[in-house]
Amino acid sequence: MPAAGSGTRMGKEIPKPYLTIAGKTILEHTLLQFRHVKEIHELIISTSELFKEQTREIASAVFCDIELTVIEGGAERQESVFKALQYVTDSAELIAIHDAVRPFVSEELILDCIKTASGSDVDGAILATPAKDTIKEVVDNNLVVATPERDRMWQAQTPQIFKREILLRAYNEAASRKYIGTDDSSLVEMIGGKVSVIKSTADNFKITYPLDFQLAKLMLSGK
Ligand code: CTP
Ligand code: MG
Repeated sequence: MPAAGSGTRMGKEIPKPYLTIAGKTILEHTLLQFRHVKEIHELIISTSELFKEQTREIASAVFCDIELTVIEGGAERQESVFKALQYVTDSAELIAIHDAVRPFVSEELILDCIKTASGSDVDGAILATPAKDTIKEVVDNNLVVATPERDRMWQAQTPQIFKREILLRAYNEAASRKYIGTDDSSLVEMIGGKVSVIKSTADNFKITYPLDFQLAKLMLSGK
């Protein structure tokens, strides 16, 4: 679980996972969505040095019977995930990556994603929503160069879940090619991996901007 970002777009002093809503940090809200998922055997969280202790406290209160590792992340999300991957035990079949700032993912969708990712016909599965708006491909001088068929456009979310071996290979390959992707799946796709999409819902949004934070507050205050 990457939680090492600084939250530039949110513009708050405290990084997003450690902002409090309805008496709990966003990180805790997110972890709580996973607490009944029996398939999880270990949890590795990347965060900044300053928040390691708090992270350990939050996570150990939610998960008392699985192995917990809290490490220092990197400058990019990809680096934070890559560092965490070094701690995954060899016996793990699947690796699930989930943003610490998506507290509304449902257990049902997590389980769907695990089930699909473990199928023998794919290398992984990700949650995504069909694009609501028409997507434009735009070049440097703000000129539209293409309008891909909207029916084929999906917006990727997390969790993104992959078979361990291919995910490690994808991350190592990306590191050696100095390729930085905007999600985990793109690295697996880069090495030819087959990734299935699970239709998700808009409430699994990533808390990115102050408006997202306001919405999250509204949603959690009613819980
Ligand atoms: N993340 C991380 N390490 C980084 C950057 C991001 O672990 N170097 C984590 C964030 O903490 C977050 C998730 O990746 O849980 C998604 O990233 P994003 O929403 O972009 O968060 P930030 O990078 O913190 O925000 P911003 O891009 O606005 O600075
Ligand atoms: Mg970021």
